[in-house]
Amino acid sequence: MKSTRNRRRHCRDRVAAIQDPKPAIQNVPCVNFARTTKNITKIKRHFSRRAFMEWLKELRDGLDAEFGTGPRVVTLATVDLTGWPHARMVVCRRIDDDGTVYVVSDARSQKNMQVRARPAAEFCFWLPTRRTQFRVSGDIVPVAAHVPETAIDLESETTRVRREAWEKLSPTARALFAWPMPGEARVDDDAAFVKSNDATSAPDNFEVLLTAPRAVERLDLNTHPHRRRRWMLETEWVGVDLNP
Ligand SMILES: Cc1cc2nc3c(=O)[nH]c(=O)nc-3n(C[C@H](O)[C@H](O)[C@H](O)COP(=O)(O)O)c2cc1C
Repeated sequence: MKSTRNRRRHCRDRVAAIQDPKPAIQNVPCVNFARTTKNITKIKRHFSRRAFMEWLKELRDGLDAEFGTGPRVVTLATVDLTGWPHARMVVCRRIDDDGTVYVVSDARSQKNMQVRARPAAEFCFWLPTRRTQFRVSGDIVPVAAHVPETAIDLESETTRVRREAWEKLSPTARALFAWPMPGEARVDDDAAFVKSNDATSAPDNFEVLLTAPRAVERLDLNTHPHRRRRWMLETEWVGVDLNP
């Protein structure tokens, strides 16, 4: 439990952080940090009431059966400002008890810029062992390096989320965040692409993309006819069987 004095200091620093947001990287469209912090809290509160949803168990069990302790590879689709779709593989780092999906990504990458402008996204998991597809959609909230230095010791939620995700990465995976600007013309010097990175703290371009699912759909190919079920978050989560 924080002391009253600590709590007051926490509130004061939080307000200062909101009033004086510092973009992690110049020349990258800036996240609305105040909104981000608020959204993470909202996501947590919102989903904690529905911790044992039917779809969550099915999805997690399916991922365990498919990947075990290996990387949970999934397609992530986003849209750009013109409405053009972009799909790519990412690693699903974690799915919390409240359903929040975690991905790590470079703040300089296209996907991060896209979700800042248009947060709508869909993950598509294929679990061949179970012959089952899961589509999970919701808004992405990028967790950026935004906590001012004076507030770092407060271990805010954003700091914690980034720190824990960084600590779980291998030195090889950390190295990618030290590479030259993703998506730009190839730098003609392989030495710029370091193989390993032992940095213990995350660089400013390291971001965690959090998604609070709003709709989940499962398609099971094991039966005849196939079984398709959709869950949607209205005021409560509701599930409905659909024609495949
Ligand atoms: C198996 C696999 C896993 C990947 N995992 C990630 C990941 O976790 N995060 C990520 O940003 N990119 C990951 N990538 C790279 C992305 O697919 C993509 O090439 C990169 O993020 C740039 O995409 P963007 O320009 O749309 O942002 C992975 C690629 C593959 C093939």
